[in-house]
Amino acid sequence: MSLAERHKKLERNVTLLGVGVLVTVAIGGLVEIAPLFWIDNTIEKVEGMRPYTPLEQAGRDIYVREGCYLCHSQMIRPFRDEVERYGHYSLAAESMYDHPFQWGSKRTGPDLARVGGRYSDEWHVQHLTNPQAVVPVSVMPQYGFLATTDLAIGDPAATLKALTRVGVPYSQDDIDKATQDILAQANPNLDPGDLAERYPKAQIRDFDGNPNRLTEMDALVAYLQMLGTLVDVNSAAAQEELAKEKGR
Ligand code: HEC
Repeated sequence: MSLAERHKKLERNVTLLGVGVLVTVAIGGLVEIAPLFWIDNTIEKVEGMRPYTPLEQAGRDIYVREGCYLCHSQMIRPFRDEVERYGHYSLAAESMYDHPFQWGSKRTGPDLARVGGRYSDEWHVQHLTNPQAVVPVSVMPQYGFLATTDLAIGDPAATLKALTRVGVPYSQDDIDKATQDILAQANPNLDPGDLAERYPKAQIRDFDGNPNRLTEMDALVAYLQMLGTLVDVNSAAAQEELAKEKGR
C-alpha cells in the first residue's frame, strides 16, 4: 500500500483519525508540559530583586487603577532597537513579584520597565500633572488630581499579607511595620527605622514636593522611580548566561 493510500484510509476512518489526532496532540502536550514537573522554578532568581515597599505597592495599585498599562508596557524585548532605546532587556525575575504583571500589550507611550532614575521627581510631577507642558504633542491624559488626593493607605499590612499568599516573600516584620513603612518612606520628618535594610535600594524622600502631605502622587512617583532599578542587570544577565550553560 502506498503512502497516499494509507493516508486516504486514515482520513476516511473517523475513529482511526481521532486516535491519530489524539496521539499527535498528546506528544506535543507532553513535550511542553512534562518538563514543568521536573524543574523547581520557571524563573531564574536574580540578585537584587525584592518585594515592593508598601508605598511602591500603593503606587503600583494607582498605576493599575488609572490604566497606565493601556498605553505603557513594562517589558523590554531583546531586540536591538528596544535595548538601545530603553536599556537592558527585561528579565523574567524583574516582574516576579507583580500580581498581576504589567507587561502590557500596547505602547501608545514608551516602555516604562526602566524609567526609574531617568527623570527627577519634579519632572514626573510636572509631566503627570500636565504632560503637554513637557511634551507638547503628548496624548497622555492629565493626572494632576493625584497631587491633591491624600493617599488612602487603608490597611497595608493586609495587602502585604495577601501578597504572601501568592508567593511574595514578605517577612512578618515587613507586615508588622507596613503602616509605619508607608508613612515614613515619603516623609523625611519620620524615622524610617530599618526600612532601607529590609528593602534594599528603597528611595526614602518626599516625592511630590509637598513633605507635609502623603498623596497619591507620592506613591505613584515612588513606584515609577523604583522601576528597573532593583536588579543590576548586567551582572544578572551574566548569572542567566551561567545558569543556561550549567543547563539549569
Ligand atoms: C492615552 C495613553 C496614555 C496613558 C493612559 C498614559 N500615558 Fe504615559 N505617555 C503616553 C505618551 C504618548 C507618552 C510620550 C509623550 C510624553 O512624554 O508625554 C507618555 C509618556 C510617559 C512617561 C515618560 C516616559 C519616558 O521614558 O519618557 C511616563 C513616566 C508616563 N508616561 C507615565 C504614565 C503613567 C504613570 C500613567 C498612568 C497614570 C500614564 N503614563 C498614562 C501615553 C499615555
